[in-house]
Amino acid sequence: MPIVSCVILSIPATSANLGPGFDCIGVALTLDSKFKFTRLESGNFSITVKGLEAERVKTDSSNLSYQAFIKLYKHIQQKPPPVDIEITLGIPLARGLGSSATAIVGGLVGANELAGKPLNQFQLMELAISMEGHPDNVVPALIGGCRLAVTSQTSWKICDVPWHKNIIPIVAIPDFEISTEDARKVLPTQVSRADTIFNTAHLGLLLRGLATGRSDWLKTALQDKLHQPYRKQLIAGYDTVNSAAIDVGAYGMVISGAGPTLLALTDMEHSADVVAAIAATWQQYGIIASVQPLSIDQQGVKIISQTQIQ
Ligand code: HSE
Repeated sequence: MPIVSCVILSIPATSANLGPGFDCIGVALTLDSKFKFTRLESGNFSITVKGLEAERVKTDSSNLSYQAFIKLYKHIQQKPPPVDIEITLGIPLARGLGSSATAIVGGLVGANELAGKPLNQFQLMELAISMEGHPDNVVPALIGGCRLAVTSQTSWKICDVPWHKNIIPIVAIPDFEISTEDARKVLPTQVSRADTIFNTAHLGLLLRGLATGRSDWLKTALQDKLHQPYRKQLIAGYDTVNSAAIDVGAYGMVISGAGPTLLALTDMEHSADVVAAIAATWQQYGIIASVQPLSIDQQGVKIISQTQIQ
């Protein structure tokens, strides 16, 4: 069997939670980072990082992609080969767009390709979830689309969530960061029955709203009581930006993942107005944001090129 000596992967950004789907739903978006894994003749490992905020990524053995690379080889009980990892970042770090999920998925898939594909997609997904701790970023990063992930006693149930073609996701990426750890610390450990029922009902409505594109359903469905009321204190101007987006035609706005990126859903007709309203309103709070409409990435990890030794 030919041995893979080099593989280049593209991995999409993801937006987790979508309001009421805390820790269980996420969508892959058309923004990506690239990971190149090259088998070396000798040595141990080397890592270079280019692109957005590259200087902030560690290039020692604590690098998350390298950790994931090693994890896969440990899992298959093989010694990892010497490897050069080149990362080209297109997804900003610590903004709620799944940059750590891309690093984990990149390392696992890169190792799996170099090792001759010992694991199938489902096994890769389980390893990725165990590394990240929750499924909502790694699952869509790996397989694309909008996905609901539900744990059962024996394994994960992964469900495709249809996304109506008229629903446009707009991301507003601000010039400040929030770590997932900090954003999880502000959450209560217990919630009321009323808030639980609220989110259960809203997530059900969200699934139907996303499938049908019905604006009246989406306008209600994007609300949440489990995480956003606590996290919005970490994001200056949240309520005002939310109202500004809705006033010009957004169905609603949510915190993307653990934030601080905001995700608005709208239709094509209102897309430009929503972009302008979010950017202008946040600027009143001194926050400069890159605001752009994206599309849904349907594929997840893409192998851009692969070199084999016969
Ligand atoms: N569901 C996670 C959270 C996503 O909101 O904390 C961030 O990784």
